[in-house]
Amino acid sequence: MTELKVSIPVSGVNYKILAGSGIAPENMNNHFASGGFTVADGNVADIYPRLMPSGRLYRYAASEENKTLACLEDILKWLRDEGALRDGALMAVGGGITGDVAGFAAAVYMRGIKIIQMPTTLLAMVDSSVGGKTGVNFGGLKNNVGAFHQPSEVIIDVDFLRTLSDGEFLNGLAESIKIAAVADADFFRFLKENRLAVLERDEKTMETVVSRSCALKAAIVEADEKESGLRKLLNFGHTIAHAIETDSRHGIRHGCAVAMGMAYETEYAFRRGIADKDVLEAVRGILTEYGYDLEYRPQNADTFLKALSKDKKATRSGISLALTGKGMTGKIVNGVTPEELCALFGR
Ligand SMILES: NC(=O)c1ccc[n+]([C@@H]2O[C@H](COP(=O)([O-])OP(=O)(O)OC[C@H]3O[C@@H](n4cnc5c(N)ncnc54)[C@H](O)[C@@H]3O)[C@@H](O)[C@H]2O)c1
Repeated sequence: MTELKVSIPVSGVNYKILAGSGIAPENMNNHFASGGFTVADGNVADIYPRLMPSGRLYRYAASEENKTLACLEDILKWLRDEGALRDGALMAVGGGITGDVAGFAAAVYMRGIKIIQMPTTLLAMVDSSVGGKTGVNFGGLKNNVGAFHQPSEVIIDVDFLRTLSDGEFLNGLAESIKIAAVADADFFRFLKENRLAVLERDEKTMETVVSRSCALKAAIVEADEKESGLRKLLNFGHTIAHAIETDSRHGIRHGCAVAMGMAYETEYAFRRGIADKDVLEAVRGILTEYGYDLEYRPQNADTFLKALSKDKKATRSGISLALTGKGMTGKIVNGVTPEELCALFGR
């Protein structure tokens, strides 16, 4: 088992991340025995009935449609009816949607109770369970209402990955490749050299993948909890990915769009002399070897351009683009225009 310590100086929070195989049952039992409450993704509760606590359990039908204020309110009412108090602890068991909604409930219930994250998708293990962002969709916008609420503990049992679909697995893996590409060239090499073991979901290999991804994300969050600078590096691949998701009307899964985004954004870095040819080849190579499709043809050029212009990282002076540059080190480039990015698609 790997144990990581995270400390966020801004909010004075310290917590630990445990990653290993077979660690969920004992931790879940301890949580229940100490009077804790659990919000579990209904699918996960069905697949792992023996793992679920015998009481104080809320089954949440996790989906983007149910990532709403109405579902949040339902969880808050349930906490109140169950008699949860200010010193109570809530555990979120599921993917990123469950973690975000339960985390937001914990952030606002009685002005904040503890949230323990037990992620069950690879995306949640390597990305969403660490960093403290919680929230729901609102007014047709994704994650538009939320709060920063750091977990009191993150418990990652890689055995959950056994039942995850291949699509969901690749969806999460894109975020590990992303963070390796901007923050850790050794980890990038590890992902390249251990591809078969990763794809087989070998427990020891996956313990390394999740613990290194979390350590890198935690280090970035420690340095920049609220995304004013360094944390922007985590957006590598995401500017173009969001345009692809919008243009394809979410027909392309987030992780697959991020993989395409990383390839196109690195092509941009190469054309501007920010990245060398070997970086471009390394990024395209690893993504192709893992089976991601890297080519995209915008369906509607206007929609695509508008989506780029509305990117969260766009200001009047252009887009702040997170890239991997020479020697595979993360870099923020300001003032990029949507038109320049569109040109990568031959438009
Ligand atoms: N808070 C953050 O920093 C952050 C970061 C990235 C993404 N997110 C959010 O995460 C969400 C996406 O998360 P996700 O990709 O984990 O999706 P998800 O929570 O919908 O889970 C994906 C699917 O996998 C199923 N599932 C979960 N665990 C399983 C298991 N072990 N075996 C079999 N099936 C399992 C779920 O029931 C669901 O159908 C988005 O809403 C996104 O906004 C948040």
